[in-house]
Amino acid sequence: MTLGFVPTMGALHPGHLSLIEAAKKQTKFVVASIFVNPTQFNDSDDLNRYPRKEKSDLEMLKSVGCDMVFLPEVEDIYPNPKEKYEIDLGFLDEVMEGEFRPNHFTGVARVVERFFSLIRPDIAFFGEKDIQQLAVIRRMTEIRNLDVDVRGVETKRETDGLAMSSRNLLLNESQRQEATHVFETLKYGQQLIKEIKDVNVIREKMVAFCKNSKLELEYLELVDNQSLRSATSVDNCRACIAAYCGKVRLIDNMALF
Ligand code: PAF
Repeated sequence: MTLGFVPTMGALHPGHLSLIEAAKKQTKFVVASIFVNPTQFNDSDDLNRYPRKEKSDLEMLKSVGCDMVFLPEVEDIYPNPKEKYEIDLGFLDEVMEGEFRPNHFTGVARVVERFFSLIRPDIAFFGEKDIQQLAVIRRMTEIRNLDVDVRGVETKRETDGLAMSSRNLLLNESQRQEATHVFETLKYGQQLIKEIKDVNVIREKMVAFCKNSKLELEYLELVDNQSLRSATSVDNCRACIAAYCGKVRLIDNMALF
């Protein structure tokens, strides 16, 4: 029997449910977890603000036929909080999310490694919205030599293109409209690449487009779709973006080719 696993931090939306659906199609028994992992937050306000909606989460998971839900307490995951966790994530920990959220990926790798050891899934599913997280988890799995197949699932979007995210719940009405500019910037990149073959020029134009809004751009990078290293050519190029909409940090990415 293949065991599928979908880790989440709760405040579920249709994007999470698409992970469960993918897991249902590809495995026999699906376990989801809901755990707001403190070690991956580098800002305690962000951790405290993170939306928590356990009751409706459980109903949603039931509605899509999730077979089991794991709802651990912090002590279950970190019985020895002082224990050190070390992993060499290489350049993934230094660029984009790694640069702006120090220790974030170590916290993600740590909790996912712990989940894998407790649940022992055959296949684990992660959203492609967090493309760098997906690469980090693949690297952790490789470094620790774990027998888990890590699969990405396409980003689910609202009708106006905004990538679904639990953080969208924190946007007020006008911010919610402003937030679509992230998606529009990525679509603009897809237009540009049809005519311009210089990644630096494309990037500059996308940055200017994004800055022409109320969003506060943190980074906008064009990277190689496989390695996530800086793109040197337009072939296989993916744009990754992080921007603040008020106090809410949004990330998204899109293949431009
Ligand atoms: O993507 C998330 O929701 C979290 O980073 C994850 C993978 C559940 C680990 O806490």
